[in-house]
Amino acid sequence: MYLTPEEERIMSGESGPTLQKAMEILVALGDIYEADRLIPIKSAQIAGVSYKTMGDAGLEWISDLDGKVQVPSILNPAGMDLERWQEMGVSAEFAQKQQEIIQAYSSLGIEVQCTCTPYYLQSFSATYGDHLAWSESSAVSYANSVIGARTNREGGPSALCAALVGKTANYGYHLDENRIPELMISVDCELDASDYAVLGYIAGKAAGKRVPLFRMRSTPHRDQLKALGAAMAASGAVALYHVEGVTPESCRKDFELPAEQLTIERTQIDEVYETVSGDGITECDSAAVGCPHCSPEELEEVAAKLEGKVVDNNVWIFTSREVAEFNPRLVERIEKSGAKVLCDTCMVVSPATDKLSHMAVNSGKAYAYLPGMCKVAATIANIEKCMEKGGGSHSD
Ligand code: F3S
Repeated sequence: MYLTPEEERIMSGESGPTLQKAMEILVALGDIYEADRLIPIKSAQIAGVSYKTMGDAGLEWISDLDGKVQVPSILNPAGMDLERWQEMGVSAEFAQKQQEIIQAYSSLGIEVQCTCTPYYLQSFSATYGDHLAWSESSAVSYANSVIGARTNREGGPSALCAALVGKTANYGYHLDENRIPELMISVDCELDASDYAVLGYIAGKAAGKRVPLFRMRSTPHRDQLKALGAAMAASGAVALYHVEGVTPESCRKDFELPAEQLTIERTQIDEVYETVSGDGITECDSAAVGCPHCSPEELEEVAAKLEGKVVDNNVWIFTSREVAEFNPRLVERIEKSGAKVLCDTCMVVSPATDKLSHMAVNSGKAYAYLPGMCKVAATIANIEKCMEKGGGSHSD
């Protein structure tokens, strides 16, 4: 891989050991994937934040780094709401370690916004054609597919290295040739609400790592595209998809239709609604919405569904701190029911979920991950049914 004289100097250690290590990792990745050079990035989103998944080894690694990030950088969800962790039932020991991780990232110049929906943040916009180094799989999918920006599915360490250097290796989804659809998926029914999450769950299994092109009868809006992509990234490893007439590259480019085609029917979608993921012998004892983190429109929808209702069980609504702080009235309306609007974290990466047994979710990603990562069974349903099944919601 070609390196500029300045990149060579960083590689030789002239700018200190942290940058040298970061450059070595970027070059190693570039060599593996046959990149020709490094390219500048506009921003980085860094996974590997929850103490639940990082442990002491991860904390030690981050704490040993110095230097400052070269581009706007934020974090993936942590293991707790950084302010309301006690209400989540998180232990003081965990909270202490989690704060140390956040502090270590912050000292590298990374903004303490812990979210998988960086594209909702006012100061963190990405636009068509931007090169990024994002690492949370649903954010990667959204950036590539819905925005038309370009990012590989970075690991936490490689996104951090890219942030420190301000560049990433030019391979994978940064290149035109890897953005061409490889599988055509026709959807043989109208879809609404959580149907897109279920469709993503089914399509991800079929697509694996390939780039699907969808032909749909209904027209998904941005939150439905978010749900579709998040589910495909979890049940498969899809980092980019197109929807005919909807997503930007499908609208701007004349793709040849992929040779391989498949159709998804209503009966397949209904089957997922009827199937509990994991060991679901118990009734739902909780519900969670906001995987990926809720947009303001989704908070509005939850608030409307909970109007005049009371929930008996744990009902958690996850969003970014910025979205919550910009919409205090919505938070207030939701919390009047007894549900909690939590920030900086989610049901999958927080240890708070581990004490539950069966969660109702409207997310294909949570449906796929809760059994494995939290040993919690999951039922998938639309928001209203989640509140009924998991929250025991009833009129005030
Ligand atoms: Fe985001 Fe957590 Fe879901 S990181 S996509 S809310 S599993």
